[in-house]
Amino acid sequence: MLSLHPKTLFPSSPFHLTHRALNPNPNPRFPHRKAVVKTNHCKAEYTTERGLQFETGESFFRHESATGRDLGVLAAALYKREKGQLRVLDAMCGCGVRSLRYLVEAEADFVVANDANDNYRRVILQNLRLVESGEGDERRWVVTHSDANRILTEHYLHNDFLDFIDVDSFGSDSMYLRSAICALRWDGLLYITSTDGFSSGGHRPECSLAAYGAYIRQMPYPNEIGLRMLIGGAVREASVLGYHVTPLFSYYAYHGPIFRVLLQVNRGKLSDKRHYGFVSYCHGCGNSQAYTWEELGQMNCPCSYQKGPRSLVVSGPLWTGPLHSANYLKEMLDLAETWGWTGKGTGTELHKLLSRMVEESDPKLPPGYINMDEMASRAKINSPSLETMMGTLRKEGYAASRTQIASNAFKTDCPMSECIRIAKDLKCC
Ligand SMILES: C[S@@+](CC[C@H](N)C(=O)[O-])C[C@H]1O[C@@H](n2cnc3c(N)ncnc32)[C@H](O)[C@@H]1O
Ligand SMILES: [Zn+2]
Repeated sequence: MLSLHPKTLFPSSPFHLTHRALNPNPNPRFPHRKAVVKTNHCKAEYTTERGLQFETGESFFRHESATGRDLGVLAAALYKREKGQLRVLDAMCGCGVRSLRYLVEAEADFVVANDANDNYRRVILQNLRLVESGEGDERRWVVTHSDANRILTEHYLHNDFLDFIDVDSFGSDSMYLRSAICALRWDGLLYITSTDGFSSGGHRPECSLAAYGAYIRQMPYPNEIGLRMLIGGAVREASVLGYHVTPLFSYYAYHGPIFRVLLQVNRGKLSDKRHYGFVSYCHGCGNSQAYTWEELGQMNCPCSYQKGPRSLVVSGPLWTGPLHSANYLKEMLDLAETWGWTGKGTGTELHKLLSRMVEESDPKLPPGYINMDEMASRAKINSPSLETMMGTLRKEGYAASRTQIASNAFKTDCPMSECIRIAKDLKCC
């Protein structure tokens, strides 16, 4: 395994950065394409994402992760616009496609493209060649092959803090959280991942406890729990260091499954400790509820008098606050529109996703969602349409939105028993 000498990585003066606007508006018409290109030496397989061509070689690469990459690039570009600088560490870069996109699309001043597997070196270098690497203070990028924790810690030890850290791991990112938070500037952005669907599904609570400090039980919205578990793990790690995190967006993708969260990291304690607590689900009546630490020992569901106290399962501690910042998502959406990433035939999915996330950001909406099928089965009716159900909930003064995670489900602050009553009324039962 090749690891760069720190001097190569950390020249004595800070990196100053040339700014090259290389393709600010890459061809939006062809988000992803594959082509086989014959060179003089060999046959290489090229892929295109948002108009940028790159090689994947033998590296781990998924087309389906393009949306996660789009979201990261939009966030990085917004950071650059706001702060006027952007230094990125792509800690698990695979073939380097993210690094390339951070350089070209987000106009990063400097990117460290790191992957522990040095067999990917040729392909990463090949892909980043599109951007002149520069030298000394003008350096735009370097390729390294360290363990992620090692390179993050090296940056911290050299006071060489980053603006944006992307950790795109398999399994759980939890072991990288502390070193990533240490290596980040205050107010910097941390883009983390979990692909641990077993833990979020409540199938191995001991593992989620070890990784994220959260004991996760089976609940009917495991993929939202996966996001909350990941944010909660970061809340805990940040608080050890005297920091707090704010989720700017939380994204779930079914392939993998993949849980991705963008966090802003700042000094000081969590401003609202109500946002790090517990979620209960009652198997008896289907109701979900969030609890604070002060309410531990008082968890109860009104139905438990009839169905018995064992009907309640509790997961936590995890993040119980909003999954996203609506204002931030609107800025992302505006930028995506400006770049032509959301128009018809080019990225309607991205538009739909960001719009749905904005809807979900309503702070009145508690953790969890209600599946229409579960509600209909408890009500013993055919379910009304999702739109009708949400419209009626809103008319009755409740908050309601769709969820990016499940198509036939809604989020609401209305208890399940009331939802059942409303659904029955709608069906004239
Ligand atoms: C999910 S893939 C990355 C995909 C890439 N970010 C993309 O968007 O196409 C995870 C990568 O992490 C690398 N990796 C695994 N463990 C690592 C570690 N401890 N430190 C650094 N890289 C690691 C693997 O070699 C693999 O390329
Ligand atoms: Zn109950």
